[in-house]
Amino acid sequence: MILVQIYCFKAILSILFVTIVCIFILFITQYVPGNDKGNDAASLLILIWYWPFHKTLNLTSNVCYDLYGIKNCQLTDNRSMLVQADVVVFHHKELQKSSDVPYEMRPPGQKWVWASLESPSNVMDLEKWNHTFNWVLSYRQDSDIFVPYGKLVLHSPSNSFTIPPKTGLVSWVISNYKSIHERALLYKKLFQHVTVDIYGKAAKKELCPKCLLPVVSKYKFYLAFENSIHRDYITEKMWYNSFEACAVPVVLGPPRTNYEQFVPPDSFIHVEDFESPEKLARFLRTMNTSQYKEFFKWRRKYSLKLFQDWRERFCSICTVYHSLPQEKIYHNLQEWFKA
Ligand SMILES: *[C@@H]1O[C@H](CO)[C@@H](O)[C@H](O)[C@H]1NC(C)=O
Ligand SMILES: *[C@@H]1O[C@H](CO)[C@@H](O)[C@H](O)[C@H]1NC(C)=O
Ligand SMILES: *[C@@H]1O[C@H](CO)[C@@H](O)[C@H](O)[C@H]1NC(C)=O
Ligand SMILES: *[C@@H]1O[C@H](CO)[C@@H](O)[C@H](O)[C@H]1NC(C)=O
Repeated sequence: MILVQIYCFKAILSILFVTIVCIFILFITQYVPGNDKGNDAASLLILIWYWPFHKTLNLTSNVCYDLYGIKNCQLTDNRSMLVQADVVVFHHKELQKSSDVPYEMRPPGQKWVWASLESPSNVMDLEKWNHTFNWVLSYRQDSDIFVPYGKLVLHSPSNSFTIPPKTGLVSWVISNYKSIHERALLYKKLFQHVTVDIYGKAAKKELCPKCLLPVVSKYKFYLAFENSIHRDYITEKMWYNSFEACAVPVVLGPPRTNYEQFVPPDSFIHVEDFESPEKLARFLRTMNTSQYKEFFKWRRKYSLKLFQDWRERFCSICTVYHSLPQEKIYHNLQEWFKA
């Protein structure tokens, strides 16, 4: 009897000991200096070789963690850090005219990322970059680092959303009007049958960045016409100008099935759904309130997440880094992108 008690006592003691050790280890890993900043020895260093469109952003704080909760990820734009960098990212627009690509300095194993959010119609000179880049960062779903213009995230069901008051029917903001664009051809036919209020440089009614939402949200519909038609090329024209503004997007772009990979089928109107611009115009003009409300049903389940800051896109390299093929190289980037 006494023997059993002693064994029990020993067992309890050892359990206690293990528990204390566990708590201690947990404590250490939580509070070692540096860890609270989201960095440790496994931290990745991402060097931004060119700021997109020469717009420098503030990197002084620990941006990836502080702004996006992404741990072990440091961004720098200090080119002296080239040798230490795990990844160097090159934005295509500046790369196109560059003569300062550091081929000779590239350490073995360093990953080079080609970054662009433009469509193939607006990306030139890709042939120059055979055998150079390991990974691609773009809006295309099959990119190594997939960075859409926006996405929907599930939230707990709620009915708290209300449609803002509407005083106009259709609006369109356009800065680059080229009459040969498919969107211009469609628009010309459409506007014979429905009034479209046009803003932007092309209409000499430019809206400041902060003015766009309040103006566009007064309209029931927004013409989210892409400048060129390519798989997955669904831009801020739908995500920001329409969804963020609570205007229903009338989309011109890739086929409906492609849009439905990103958003619910009843969240947008596709120009393809109509035999003619005239029928589309009539649909917009004659829609009643209950029918209109149906286009907002998705908001009970989803909220909108926009991606607008290049720092967030660059930080997201770290979240997929370890799952990407380390030996990959694009021998023919042109072929991949134009496919
Ligand atoms: C950059 O961000 C840090 C931390 O958020 C801030 O203290 C600093 O003033 C900013 N610098 C500039 C030039 O905006
Ligand atoms: C860039 O990095 C180098 C090398 O680490 C360092 O000496 C230099 O002060 C840095 N420059 C800036 C502007 O931070
Ligand atoms: C890149 O590769 C493609 C396909 O092999 C080839 O046609 C093209 O000439 C190459 N470009 C350069 C600059 O070598
Ligand atoms: C609104 O329009 C839809 C589709 O045309 C129709 O089925 C519905 O009965 C209409 N509702 C009202 C209240 O007029």
